[in-house]
Amino acid sequence: MTNQSGTAKLTFGDQEIDLPMYSPTAGPDVIDIRKLYAQGHVFTYDPGFTSTASTDSAITFIDGDKGELLHRGFPIDQLAEKSHFLEVCYLLLYGELPSGDQLETFESLVTNHTMLHEQMQFLFRGFRRDAHPMAVMVGVVGAMSAFYHDSTDINDPHQREVASIRLIAKMPTIAAWAYKYTIGQPFVYPRNDLDYASNFLRMCFSVPAEDYEVNPILARAMDRIFTLHADHEQNASTSTVRLASSSGANPFACIAAGIACLWGPAHGGANQACLEMLREIGTVDQIPEYIRRAKDKDDPFRLMGFGHRVYKNFDPRAKVMKQSADEVLDLLGIENNETLKVAKELEKIALEDPYFIEKKLYPNVDFYSGIILDAMGFPTSMFTPIFALARTVGWISQWKEQLADPQLKIGRPRQLYCGPTARDYIDVEDR
Ligand code: CMC
Repeated sequence: MTNQSGTAKLTFGDQEIDLPMYSPTAGPDVIDIRKLYAQGHVFTYDPGFTSTASTDSAITFIDGDKGELLHRGFPIDQLAEKSHFLEVCYLLLYGELPSGDQLETFESLVTNHTMLHEQMQFLFRGFRRDAHPMAVMVGVVGAMSAFYHDSTDINDPHQREVASIRLIAKMPTIAAWAYKYTIGQPFVYPRNDLDYASNFLRMCFSVPAEDYEVNPILARAMDRIFTLHADHEQNASTSTVRLASSSGANPFACIAAGIACLWGPAHGGANQACLEMLREIGTVDQIPEYIRRAKDKDDPFRLMGFGHRVYKNFDPRAKVMKQSADEVLDLLGIENNETLKVAKELEKIALEDPYFIEKKLYPNVDFYSGIILDAMGFPTSMFTPIFALARTVGWISQWKEQLADPQLKIGRPRQLYCGPTARDYIDVEDR
């Protein structure tokens, strides 16, 4: 927490209250309203948290007007270009870029925790084959607390560390197995001679009947997708993890809560919804009709992959993702299939349309990630599990930061009550 930088005066009725202000290292100043209820007996009202900082944090910074995303101060485009996912994991978790030795130790630690408890196979097998992989992930990650008792004590720093490594290491195996199960293929075990992204691709796409060579360009693209999704400060799923954790819940339960929240189409589920929308549009000549529907106030339809609560200029992740999409499509020789044509044309039309310009709606990260994942051979149902896999490190870093905060309190929002006031119970025969 920074030192007080000023005072805000709040006047209402015959009361005047002084509220402390703080200046962050970057971003707008904040007014501290924690004592407001005690001093003025009023609440603030901000559903959707559009003006409320729920915590202080030193992990990720976004400037939505500039289209800037920094992890521990480092711009996302530099990390996507020069670093790789596990190094970014280290940075998010520990605050600094690792030395060569630190990176080697960390990578080896993660690599050596990728296997799942063998008994967990039976848990997978209990699901219906047509289960959505996100449903499986919510269940399996929550169930990790039943398999790894020795890393559920949040008051023990060593157990917290072990849980963090276990989650980052095992998430690719869990996501890949959720996929293999739905397509009726045998589970593929992780291999320690492969890097994180290659290992995931192999667990998803290899079968025991033949050898599988991981294409290094696809592995690099996969790793970049992980890097671009690693953290995004206090978004809905991260705030869910923090809220769950504020009650003292174990790490696996908290991350399962985050996965559940990510699933929604306004958040991580947008990548699946976006590609399905592109397919539904089908051909370029249908685009105007969908643009019309997106603008119609009486139609709930929205252009998936467009808009963001914070980015009002462009999404810096989308810039890198677009470039990655071009590389992958080029490598795979996918030049202009119908979905791609629709995507390109939709992007062009929306960026020129006054409705989208006025409301500052730009393609977000999910607009391009689905195109890459589709080209790689993933079904749409796997798009959000891949997002969850990558975001796990962000959730854990924020969870660790919160637990280390001496000011931690259980999260307990208040409300603007609009229901009936107290009234007497009426016996059923008198109603
Ligand atoms: N298509 C059409 N209109 C839109 C869209 C869209 N995709 N997004 C926002 N609007 C309109 C909205 O109707 C509203 O209009 P009005 O002011 O006339 O009522 C205005 O723009 C502001 O929208 P909002 O819903 O108040 O903004 P928000 O900050 O609450 O929502 C959002 C942000 C991402 C939920 C929203 O833009 C959206 O639903 N986008 C589509 C889903 C999507 O792509 N989500 C992925 C986000 S990036 C990945 C992640 O972080 O999870």
